[in-house]
Amino acid sequence: MYDFKIDAADKPALYRDLAAAAEALTAGEPDGIANMANVAALLWETLPDLNWAGFYRAIDGELVLGPFQGRPACIRIPFGKGVCGAAAASLEVQCVADVHAFPGHIACDAASNSELVVPIVRDGKLLAVLDLDSPLTARFDGEDEAGCVALGEILARAI
Ligand code: SME
Repeated sequence: MYDFKIDAADKPALYRDLAAAAEALTAGEPDGIANMANVAALLWETLPDLNWAGFYRAIDGELVLGPFQGRPACIRIPFGKGVCGAAAASLEVQCVADVHAFPGHIACDAASNSELVVPIVRDGKLLAVLDLDSPLTARFDGEDEAGCVALGEILARAI
């Protein structure tokens, strides 16, 4: 069992502790699926107001569902489709305040209103995307984005 002390006083402190926990959880473990599964569980347990937290893996030019917490989700997403596909195609973070206004958004869970997707890239190659969904509109801000980019860098070495 793992118990991490997460300081939720403010978002930078929260993400600093989350990064330390993600480093500790993945240290020395070469299995990427196991590492994504534990980090998805860590994010789900720690971040408030989420209805989905997890990963899509880049396999043969499309995104394939990976470890996650939340409701069952779409299994395959073409690059360029929806928020995850946009992150995969552009290799740029997508922070979407209102997914219903995002062209091509894929509604896996009708409860989702905002979404943050971070590409996980190693040596210029897309490995996966980290996807967080929230029932709140505009749930994610620049601090969430910076914190999740830092987590993505840890994961790029761990998956
Ligand atoms: N809404 C996403 C699809 C994945 S689910 O949110 C888990 C999208 O538009 O890419």
